Amino acid sequence: MGVLWKLEPATAAKHRLYQRYLDAWWPILLQTSQRTGYARPRVTLLDAFAGPGRYQDSEPGSPVFLLERLLNHSAVDRMHLSPRRVHLIFIEKDPARHKHLMGELHARFGPLRDLPVHLEVQRGDAGTDSMPLLTRLGAWGHPILGIFDSWGSVNVPLDVMRRIARNPSSEVVTTFGPNWFSRRENLNLDVLDTVFGGRAFWTPADAELRPDERWRVWLSTYRDALRRSGFPDQLQFELVPRTGQPLYLVFGTGSTAGLKAMKDAMWKVDDRDGESFRDPRTRGAIPDGQIDLFQAAGLADTELLELVAQRLSMGPATVETSGEWLLPKHALQAIREMRQNGQVTLLSSGKLTTKSQVSLPA
Ligand SMILES: C[S@@+](CC[C@H](N)C(=O)[O-])C[C@H]1O[C@@H](n2cnc3c(N)ncnc32)[C@H](O)[C@@H]1O
Repeated sequence: MGVLWKLEPATAAKHRLYQRYLDAWWPILLQTSQRTGYARPRVTLLDAFAGPGRYQDSEPGSPVFLLERLLNHSAVDRMHLSPRRVHLIFIEKDPARHKHLMGELHARFGPLRDLPVHLEVQRGDAGTDSMPLLTRLGAWGHPILGIFDSWGSVNVPLDVMRRIARNPSSEVVTTFGPNWFSRRENLNLDVLDTVFGGRAFWTPADAELRPDERWRVWLSTYRDALRRSGFPDQLQFELVPRTGQPLYLVFGTGSTAGLKAMKDAMWKVDDRDGESFRDPRTRGAIPDGQIDLFQAAGLADTELLELVAQRLSMGPATVETSGEWLLPKHALQAIREMRQNGQVTLLSSGKLTTKSQVSLPA
């Protein structure tokens, strides 16, 4: 592959997801002091596999659109941007892509030192350079969002995730390409140990899996690793485009606002560029042309059940609260299934409805 490559449909959908998530994330962190306790917190966005900043047919790469959307955000006047306060770190290993990225950023934004935020564009390795860079820029103790968007050579040690997980109001997104799930034999076992936190945590997962099971099992394995690293909430999902290969994402957070914002961004992922943002929950139905991620991806069961179980592990709740970020019909469907499997106990009398009180079995 050359310096630039073609934008695949799943990558375009992932970009829309990032854009929608970041559109919510920046104001949550920059407009208010309540979430972090800092009067004016420093906020760091780390894009650790940054790419060259552009695709073959001129679509912007993640560093470019992330910065552009921040600078043009509708709430930018209330965000108090300053280079001391807002840091964007881009790491790219390939020298030619790093050079291309620098050129793109200069062409698009002019001299980087004149920007109202601090940009750090490092030629380096996501696995080894993320922590030292975060330290050098004074990011620890303040919110960090780490995006680890490799093609498949996911090589970021769990130690990095652990450090971010224990940092206030911090989150990570890790993506996996489909090849990752079929090319285990080419991967370095020692690297996998560092990514999953030890051989005991990943080896059994690969034994004799059918190809269609592999990605689910590996995503769950990685999700478990993120939980062990200290993220109380995790989401895993598959982005399925109409054409081309799917992409897989795992999100770790400790913040209710972050989890809700990511769920909202997921619901709004649609199959058309330029689609307006429509929220299926307030309309009571999935609008035409909008992918219902759970149904389109065939994910309904695993992901819904996991989300509901996570919620109920905090204590009894009504069906509608236990599926706070789900369409009511999905929450009800998930709880009904869990009840049949003995994974949920109905506490209130009568028929199971969205108002019923449920809990995990004693
Ligand atoms: C999937 S692409 C990134 C795409 C980009 N985030 C976007 O959405 O536009 C992965 C990039 O990571 C780079 N890369 C590969 N291994 C890396 C490593 N260990 N550290 C940092 N970058 C790496 C590749 O050269 C490639 O440009």
